[in-house]
Amino acid sequence: MQSDPKPVLHATGISKFFPGVIALDDVELQLYPGEVHALLGENGAGKSTLIKCLTGAYPRDAGVIMLDGAEINPKDPLSSQAAGIGTVYQEVNLLSNLSVAENLFLGRQPRRFGMIDQRRMLRDSKDILAQYGLSIDPAQLLSSYSIAIQQIVAIARAVELSGKVLILDEPTASLDREEVELMFSVIRRLTARGLAVVFITHFLDQVLAICDRATILRNGCVVGTRKLAEVTQTEIVTLMLGRQLEAATHHHERRETGDVLLSLRGFGKRGAIEPFDLDIHTGEVVGMAGLLGSGRTETCNAIFGAQPADQGEARLRGSPLRISTPREAIRNRIALCPEDRKTEGIVGDLSVRENIILSLQARQGWYRPLPRAKIEEIAQSYVKALDIRLANLDTPIRLLSGGNQQKALLARWLATEPQLLILDEPTRGIDVGAHAEIIALIERLRTQGMALLVASSEMEELVAYSTKIVVLRDRRQVGALTGDDISPNAIIRAIAAEEEPRA
Ligand SMILES: Nc1ncnc2c1ncn2[C@@H]1O[C@H](COP(=O)(O)OP(=O)(O)OP(=O)(O)O)[C@@H](O)[C@H]1O
Ligand SMILES: [Mg+2]
Repeated sequence: MQSDPKPVLHATGISKFFPGVIALDDVELQLYPGEVHALLGENGAGKSTLIKCLTGAYPRDAGVIMLDGAEINPKDPLSSQAAGIGTVYQEVNLLSNLSVAENLFLGRQPRRFGMIDQRRMLRDSKDILAQYGLSIDPAQLLSSYSIAIQQIVAIARAVELSGKVLILDEPTASLDREEVELMFSVIRRLTARGLAVVFITHFLDQVLAICDRATILRNGCVVGTRKLAEVTQTEIVTLMLGRQLEAATHHHERRETGDVLLSLRGFGKRGAIEPFDLDIHTGEVVGMAGLLGSGRTETCNAIFGAQPADQGEARLRGSPLRISTPREAIRNRIALCPEDRKTEGIVGDLSVRENIILSLQARQGWYRPLPRAKIEEIAQSYVKALDIRLANLDTPIRLLSGGNQQKALLARWLATEPQLLILDEPTRGIDVGAHAEIIALIERLRTQGMALLVASSEMEELVAYSTKIVVLRDRRQVGALTGDDISPNAIIRAIAAEEEPRA
């Protein structure tokens, strides 16, 4: 047997307390050179907090961090970076209006006669990018490249600066399949060089595809570390949740739907989404499938008036409807829970309570504040229904874990009791347990007579709750599936088909 290599990072006894919350309780983490190590756990389990303690973004309340056999005490992310730990988050934390090269060399530009040596910076950038399999022009603005490329530039920068441990906190949450593959090939190149990579994600298939070992957190405690080759997915999920996940028993029985609620004809927006026809009935879930950039979000935004349509017509229960602002949509009891909670959704400094009642209050008008007791009742009931984990309702929402913020945002729109609820990627960043709950919730809302339009990249999920699925490609509706025709394979075929089959 091979003798065990030494861990590059060994953290022991890490604890972190927030008022009313034990975020981490005596946590141990060992990372070996060349491994991809998954950090798993439900929303709020403590994954991001552990990362922040390791990088010094948060001061820890207890614990020792050993890097290459020597104790380190990072005071902030810059000092942990200098010691060898680089971090990349879901939101790209670079400057998108600078060039790729400037981002790579920010704060350490090569100089010549006191001036920044542009030529050398570009040449070195090319070399660095080539190591990651990218042949992009480093002189271009970072913003001219896709999020996936931007993430890889962020990784390159982090690795160039640190070089021992790379931490990735949900880096693939907004990438499509091919982009995830690209990201994985970058990760493999790095582990081949002996780097240790920590990978946080809620996509278990990605964990199984790329990770060697996993440490699983529950309520701030480590409940196990496993070699992934030696466990089943069921065992991992059971560890994460502390209980067995109920098997999804969705067979596609025919589902009765009600009257037409929203009817769109030749509806579209120039440059964003080509004209299409669509009927959404009460008691119906229309799923929207398509790759990233296929026009799903644009369709959601057009119906909600966030990027209003400029072609075709809409009717609501038969009456003509013009929606040019979200306010008009809300007045017509149409709600949109957006994809990107950071920029379009949460108001970070407001409490969870205020975030939940925000849309309801907006519809009612700001000069007629909702009674306090009513606010309390609404907020409490949704926290309970969606199992939002928090110390109390006064907590500023930015202090919630990512997944719990997502649930609070959903609560905000449910509180308006919409007749049409549009959900754009409702389960992004949400753990497996909450995933199942949201799917069940969609089904429950449907049977109560709500109409739903749900955009998702998760085929299995779409299949589980949709009564009809429209497939988009290149900002165009290219197919629709109903009843027994709905299956993940049929969706993939519709997305991939080069040409529409001729009848
Ligand atoms: N700055 C803070 N102040 C108060 N509580 C916090 C703070 N940061 C995190 N918490 C709490 O600590 C717990 C752990 O949160 P953390 O963000 O680490 O979860 P996570 O495992 O990353 O979850 P997710 O998968 O949803 O991102 C949560 O209960 C969260 O509300
Ligand atoms: Mg997190």
